[in-house]
Amino acid sequence: MTAVITDTAIVGAPVDRVDGPAKVTGAARYPSDVCYPDLAHAALVQSAIAAGTISGIDAGQALAAPGVLAVITHQNCPPLADAPATPLGPSPRFPLRDNRIVHYGQHVAVVVADTPEQAVAAARLVAIDYQRAEPVLGIGNPEAPVVRNPRLETERGDVTAALASAAVTYDETFTTPAEVNNPIGLFATAARWDGGRLVVHDCTQWPMMTRHVLATVFGLPEDDVRVLVPYLGGGFGAGLITWPHVILAALAARVTGRPVKLVLTRPQMFTSVGHRAQTVQRLRLGATRDFTLTAIDHDATSTVGAQDATMEPVTAVTPLSYACANVATHGRQVRLNVPNPGWLRAPGKAVGNFSLESALDELSYALGIDPVDLRLRNHADVNPQSGRPWSSNALRECYLAGAKHFGWAGRDPAVRSMRDGQWLVGYGMAGVTFGGFYGPCRASITLSRDGTARVRSAATDIGTGTYTVAAQLTAELLGLRTSQVVVEIGDSDLPPAPQSGGSGLATALSTAIHAAAGNLLRAFLDLAPGGSPLHGRSPDEVSVADGCIHLIADPSAGLAYTDLLAGGDLDEVTADGEVTPQAIAAGMPPAGAFAAHFAEVRVDEDLGLVRVTRMTSAVDAGRILNEKLARSQILGAVVMGIGMTLFEETVFDPATGRIANPTFADYLIPVSADIPDLDVIFVGELDRSNPVGVKGLGEIGIVGVPAAIANAVYHATGRRIRSLPITIDKLL
Ligand code: MOS
Repeated sequence: MTAVITDTAIVGAPVDRVDGPAKVTGAARYPSDVCYPDLAHAALVQSAIAAGTISGIDAGQALAAPGVLAVITHQNCPPLADAPATPLGPSPRFPLRDNRIVHYGQHVAVVVADTPEQAVAAARLVAIDYQRAEPVLGIGNPEAPVVRNPRLETERGDVTAALASAAVTYDETFTTPAEVNNPIGLFATAARWDGGRLVVHDCTQWPMMTRHVLATVFGLPEDDVRVLVPYLGGGFGAGLITWPHVILAALAARVTGRPVKLVLTRPQMFTSVGHRAQTVQRLRLGATRDFTLTAIDHDATSTVGAQDATMEPVTAVTPLSYACANVATHGRQVRLNVPNPGWLRAPGKAVGNFSLESALDELSYALGIDPVDLRLRNHADVNPQSGRPWSSNALRECYLAGAKHFGWAGRDPAVRSMRDGQWLVGYGMAGVTFGGFYGPCRASITLSRDGTARVRSAATDIGTGTYTVAAQLTAELLGLRTSQVVVEIGDSDLPPAPQSGGSGLATALSTAIHAAAGNLLRAFLDLAPGGSPLHGRSPDEVSVADGCIHLIADPSAGLAYTDLLAGGDLDEVTADGEVTPQAIAAGMPPAGAFAAHFAEVRVDEDLGLVRVTRMTSAVDAGRILNEKLARSQILGAVVMGIGMTLFEETVFDPATGRIANPTFADYLIPVSADIPDLDVIFVGELDRSNPVGVKGLGEIGIVGVPAAIANAVYHATGRRIRSLPITIDKLL
C-alpha cells in the first residue's frame, strides 16, 4: 500500500486552467495552425467504393494543374516498413500498399500543391477506375467473416449451471450503433524533414507512440523523429492511433522536399480516425427471489474493419461490476467493409454498461425491488475477480449520495405513475464500475534561480487540464505558487509519458511528478551548507512553503531554494522521477473510478419526444486534482452520454457502405437546448494505488448515462428501449 499525500492546499483547488489565456487569445498553436515559409499542402483522394480494386489511375490532369507538386498513389508510393503494433494493438492497414479497397473513404491518393485550394482542386482531377466487389455490410450479415478473440472469453464460477437453477432469469438483446469521435479540432499533421530528422506536429494523444510508429515506418532511429502536440482540439480516443493520413503527410514531405500540412475535412473525420464499433449484446442474468445475483452472462458481437484488428472491449468490466459468483463474457467480431473502428471515449465500457445496467433495472422490476437497493445488495465489497481489496471504492457512496442529491426517494416505483400535463415523467439510474489502469511515465523538474520550476514530460493535454493539474501538483509538492510553475508537455523529445487515454494519464503523470519532486527536494537538501539548519536532513524532516524548505521540528529554521542555488553557485537544479512497469506491477492494482448517474426524463405521450430534464452524477475519482476541471470533465462526458443516448448514430448505407451522414448537419449531437442542469458531486477517498491518491476521470462521465436515461424512459412510459439511440420512432 502506498503512502498517499494529505493536507493539500493547492491541489484540488478549482483554479482556472493555466492554458486558458493562450487558448482564448489564439496564441495556443494547434497542429492545423502550424506554418512554415515554404509550406506545401496535401489533400486526400478517397475511395468512392467500399470493396474491390483500383483498376487504373490517371493522375495526368491533376499533375498538370496549377501548383501541384506531386500525386502519390499505390502505383508510385515508395516502399515503407509496416507500422508496428502499439500497446493498444496492431496499427491500421496502410492503404497505399496495393490496389485493394476495403472501405468507402479509404485513402487512395494524396495530392500535394503550393496552396490548400490547389491541392483540393487537383485532388478532384485524379481519375480512378474501380473494379467493384459486393461490400460486406451489416453487423447481422451471415456472409461476414467472424473473428473470435480468446481474450474476450472469461468465466468465473459456473454460469450455465447458475442460469439453469436460478429462480428468476433474464435474457434480452441490446444493440448500439457506430458513433464517431469527431472533435471540433480537425485532425491535422504538419510534417517537415529537417536534414535526416522528421519533425511532425500531429493531433495525437500519445506523442511517444506516434514517434515509434513513424520511426518504424520510415526506418529511422527513434531520436530522429520528433512529434509535437502542445495543444489538441479534442481527441476522445481518435488520437490514440497513428492513422494512415499521418504517415501520408510525412511521406508527402519526403517526396516533395517541402514541409507539408494535411488537414482532414469534416467528412474525412468520419472515415479516417476511427469510430465506436457497432455492437449487438445478449445479456443473461440469474437471481434468487431474495435479490441476490447468481449469474451474469454477457455475450457481445462488435464490428471491425475488413483487414484490421482493433477491438471494442464491450465486456471488459462486466466481471468487476457485481459480487456475483458466476460471471461469463464472450466476444466475437464481424469483419465489414467499413472504416476501421478505433477508440471512442470509454471504449467497450460505454456500450457494455448500457446493456448490463439496463438489465439490472429490468431485473429490479421482475423482483419488485428498488433499482438502487438491488445494486447495493449485490455490491462488490472486494474486487470480485481477484478477491483482493480495491485500492479505493466509493460506489456505495455514489449510489447513496447521488440518490439523496437527486431526490430519488420522491420516485413512485410504478411505471407511468408520474406525469406533468402531456409529459410522462420518469426517474432512472445506473451504476458504473470503470476499472483502473496507468502506464509507465517519466517527468523532470528544474528549479531555477528566479524561483520558478519547469516540469517536463511527453504527456499531452487533450483539453482535460493536464497543464493545470501538473502545475498545481508541482507547486504543492515544492511549496511554490501555481503561477511559478511552467509545464512543458506535448513533445516526444521530453521524458517519455504514456497516452492521454484510458483515463490513465493523471495517475501516471502525478506519480512521476511526485517522484521527481521528492528527488528535487533531496538534491536541494544536499546543497545545504554545513552549519545550516537543513544540513544533513532527510526529506521526512522538512516541509516546503513559499519557495522555502523548513524544518518540521522548527519552522523558523529554513532556507529558500534560490538561496541554496546561490550558495552552491548554481543556476538551476534538475531532478527526474518515474513510475516503472515494475513499480506498477509491485503496487496495488488501481481500482479505477466509480459512479452513479440519476436521470429525470419527460416523454411527450403523443409525440414520443424525450427530454432529459435533470441529471445527478455522483463520481468517485479519488483525489480531485482540480475541482473545476474535474467537474467540467464530467459535465462534458455526460453531455456526450446524452448524445449517445438520444442522437448519435453513424449510418452506413447498406447498399454502398457510404456513410450517409458525414457532416454535423446530418450526424446529430446535442445542442444547448438538449442539455438540462447537470449536477456533479464527488465522493470517495484517496486511492491507495499511487502516492497522490488520484484516479482518472476523463471517460467515466459518459458511462452509465445511456442506461440511466433508458431506465428513466421505461419508468416514464413502460417502454423498454434496448437499442441506441432512443429516437422517436422507437417510442411510437
Ligand atoms: Mo480515450 S478513448 O482513452 O481517449
